Amino acid sequence: NNPVPVITIDGPTASGKGTVAHKVADRLGFHYLDSGALYRLAALSALRRGADLNDEHALAKLAEHLPVRFDGPVIMLANENVTEAIRAEEVGNLASKIAALPAVRQALFALQLGFRKAPGLVADGRDMGTVIFPHAKLKVFLTASTEARAQRRYKQLIDKGISANMEDLLSDLKARDDRDTHRAIAPLVPAEGAHLLDTSNMTADQAIAEVLSWYAHRAPK
Ligand code: CDP
Ligand code: CDP
Repeated sequence: NNPVPVITIDGPTASGKGTVAHKVADRLGFHYLDSGALYRLAALSALRRGADLNDEHALAKLAEHLPVRFDGPVIMLANENVTEAIRAEEVGNLASKIAALPAVRQALFALQLGFRKAPGLVADGRDMGTVIFPHAKLKVFLTASTEARAQRRYKQLIDKGISANMEDLLSDLKARDDRDTHRAIAPLVPAEGAHLLDTSNMTADQAIAEVLSWYAHRAPK
């Protein structure tokens, strides 16, 4: 019975969650939660501290006490600007490994709920609609074909001047999809009542317009 409206946007990697969630939040004047960034921060923090990647308890402790600060689009971890560093494929892959650990997910639970502030929140991730905000006003599940998603990542990397190999990208993407979909806890599945949107042949602007229209026309709860 929290009155602050939430829109959840879940889906696999490179389905466009970040792009769509960000713009929808802008348009509505809502706050934005990039929950994947929290798992990436926990992963980066573990790498930086040389944590034992098999020690669930130690990883959960790191996640629970992340010295993180969100400064608009800038993400600070302790005194380091890690906005770019957390986007590395290596960090994303480790994030998806530690995200399968129940104690790590539990450690990030309260932090995520804290983003729900007036006038509203758009939350993007894997379990926003299923676990974190099950009573969201609007739930969206974005998908796109594996090839379309690998192409998007490829283009993002090339645009940043980072060399990329399509075959490696595809195999990493499939491995991550597989882990995220088949893990025992909070697996990637559409939430009950979620609107499905396959963006394989859509522009980001079309996807954004569709989500905004669903929100404007949502059935009153
Ligand atoms: O957050 P997620 O990993 O789901 O995706 P993203 O970081 O938003 O990246 C998606 C990339 O694909 C961005 O470069 C978008 O401009 C592009 N894109 C999209 O998001 N949606 C489409 N319908 C088409 C392209
Ligand atoms: O941007 P991209 O979709 O590639 O990944 P992300 O949203 O930054 O998330 C990185 C990893 O964190 C994912 O592969 C998931 O394993 C994990 N994650 C999760 O388990 N639950 C969430 N709500 C968000 C991310």
